[in-house]
Amino acid sequence: MARSGAISPAGWWRLAPPPETVHLPAGDVCHSDALLLLQALKPKSADIIFLDPPFNLGKSYAARGPSDNLDETSYHRYIESVLVTASAALKPGGTLYLYHIPKWAIRFAPVLDRHLTFRHWIAISMKNGFVRGPYLYPAHYALLCFTRDNPKMFRRPKIPAPKCRHCHGYIRDYGGYEKYVRDGINLSDFWDDISPVRHKKYKNRQANELPLEIPRRAVAISGRRGGLLVDPFAGSGTALVAALEANMRFVGGDVSKRYCQLMQKRLASPSPKGTPCHRTILP
Ligand SMILES: C[S@@+](CC[C@H](N)C(=O)[O-])C[C@H]1O[C@@H](n2cnc3c(N)ncnc32)[C@H](O)[C@@H]1O
Repeated sequence: MARSGAISPAGWWRLAPPPETVHLPAGDVCHSDALLLLQALKPKSADIIFLDPPFNLGKSYAARGPSDNLDETSYHRYIESVLVTASAALKPGGTLYLYHIPKWAIRFAPVLDRHLTFRHWIAISMKNGFVRGPYLYPAHYALLCFTRDNPKMFRRPKIPAPKCRHCHGYIRDYGGYEKYVRDGINLSDFWDDISPVRHKKYKNRQANELPLEIPRRAVAISGRRGGLLVDPFAGSGTALVAALEANMRFVGGDVSKRYCQLMQKRLASPSPKGTPCHRTILP
C-alpha cells in the first residue's frame, strides 16, 4: 500500500492522514485502527459517520490487530472511545449511524445520547443468526441514528410497496388507497425487506458483508452531494460504495490490509457488486 505523509488535498485530516493511506479520486482508504483514523480527522468534518464494528463475537479479522473476543469491559471501553471521537468528527447537523446487535445497541445508545441527539432506533430484520443459550432466536439488528443538533439533511425515502412474488399483487390491503402507494410507501423505522448477502454473485467477502441497501438508505436519508461519509470499520467497503454512487466523498478504513485492498478494488470498479436495486440520487 502506498504510504502518504502529505496533507490530504481533500482537507478532512487534522494534520496528516494515518500513515498507510491510499488516496483515490473520491476519497481515502486507510489501513488503520478505527480509533486512530477518527482521531486523525478534523473535528466537525463528516456529514455521515457509518459504523459497522465487529460485534465482539470471537471472529478473527486480522492476523495482527485487536481481538474480536475482548472481555466486555474492554470492548465497551473501546467502542465508547470510537463513539465519542466519531461524535466530535461529525459536522453540526451531521448524522451518525451505528449498526449493532440489540445487546450492545442498548448499551451504546446512552453513550451517543450524551453527545448527540437521538433520532431513530431502526430495527432491521435479518434472519441469519444462530440461537445462543437460553434466548429467543435473534432476528433483528439495530441501526441507531443520532445527529449533531438538528439534522442538516433529512429525507424520508419512498420504498416499493411489498408485493407477492407469485401473483405480483400488493401483500397488504391498502383499502382502496392503492393509487397512493404506486410511487412507493414512506420508509419507516422497521426494515423487514432487507436480505443478507448470500449469493456468490453479490458477495465481496466471506461473511459479515452488509447488504448495500442499508448504507444506501442511510445516504438517501442524510446524504449531501459532495459531502463526506466516514466508515472506519469499512471491511469490503459497502458504505463507501453507497457514498460513491451518490456522489459523496468518503474516508474508509480497516485494520485488515486484505480488506483495504479489497475495498480499493471494489471502489475502482465502475459497477461494484451489490444488491440489484435502486441507486440513490441526491439533490
Ligand atoms: C462487521 S465488519 C464490517 C463489514 C462491512 N460493513 C462490509 O460491508 O464489508 C467489521 C470490520 O471491522 C474491521 N475491524 C475490526 N477491528 C477493527 C479496528 N480496531 N479498527 C478498524 N477496523 C477493525 C474488521 O476487519 C471488519 O472488516
